[in-house]
Amino acid sequence: MEVRKVVIPVAGWGTRSLPATKNIPKEMLPIFKKPVVQYVVEEAQSAGIDTVVLVTSQNKTIIEDHFDHNLTLENLLERKGKSQLLQEVRDVSEMVNIIAVRQKVQLGLGHAVLCAKEVCKDEAFAVMVGDDLMFGKEPGIQQLLDVARTENMAVVGVIEVPENKVDRYGIIQGEEFRPGVFRVRNLVEKPAIGTAPSRLAIVGRYVLVPEIFKYLEKLEPGVGGELQLTDALQGLANENRLLAVKLRGQRFDAGDWVEYLTANIYFALHDEDLHDDLVKRIQELVPCKGR
Ligand code: UTP
Repeated sequence: MEVRKVVIPVAGWGTRSLPATKNIPKEMLPIFKKPVVQYVVEEAQSAGIDTVVLVTSQNKTIIEDHFDHNLTLENLLERKGKSQLLQEVRDVSEMVNIIAVRQKVQLGLGHAVLCAKEVCKDEAFAVMVGDDLMFGKEPGIQQLLDVARTENMAVVGVIEVPENKVDRYGIIQGEEFRPGVFRVRNLVEKPAIGTAPSRLAIVGRYVLVPEIFKYLEKLEPGVGGELQLTDALQGLANENRLLAVKLRGQRFDAGDWVEYLTANIYFALHDEDLHDDLVKRIQELVPCKGR
């Protein structure tokens, strides 16, 4: 199975991140030195994907601009002899090809993926949610691509979550047929606590086959009145054509404040220059608890 494109939906309103996201897309909030979506694109690039299909909406054009040249800035950095920064800024512009499609009304993640139909057409493609971050030795999406290629099937990425958090995710039910790889039988979006069929939660990483569009087109509003990708995936599961892979690595949901702040600390702690001072400052702050 050849996968050359990744669809990254970035059209949502980001209401959980207000007021920060009143005029700045959630996907452009910085985590340490880079906007959230750059980490997602870097993960795709490191897995050999060279074309990104951004599903965008009004006021989100700065996301496309981030992956394009800014010649005024580049000239300025060149004049000032800031060659290291110049290189970093240029690298981002040259990382991947960008194709932008519009989601005119934010009807949900399933609908956002459907907006990429004309671009993906008859090819298998990856989907990476624009505010979901995965870090580790192997890129998250690479772990899915490996299984999709050997098994020639669609794959979703899952992690194990605590029982009291199942209601925030799509949850799968299936059989593990080799370590960490499951044949998916059923999926349920945001089940009430105590009713989930497992604790295996879908995170924002998918490798999909073009047949998914047939199910996306038939979607009816699901949980929260949204057109849910999870509901369309049930169609593939019914045909016995959906696998799940338990992802290795750290995962952060940048739309959740605790996760967002933890991701900032995680990256800053991996920076040699910052590490010691940051640890010292955090230790000074911890006694504030309860004050
Ligand atoms: P979320 O549900 O986390 O994003 O969707 P949201 O709706 O923007 O955020 P909240 O819940 O209001 O805070 C995951 C990803 O899917 C995109 C979002 O931009 C985000 O990157 N998305 C969501 C779309 O592109 N279109 C949609 O209709 C919904």
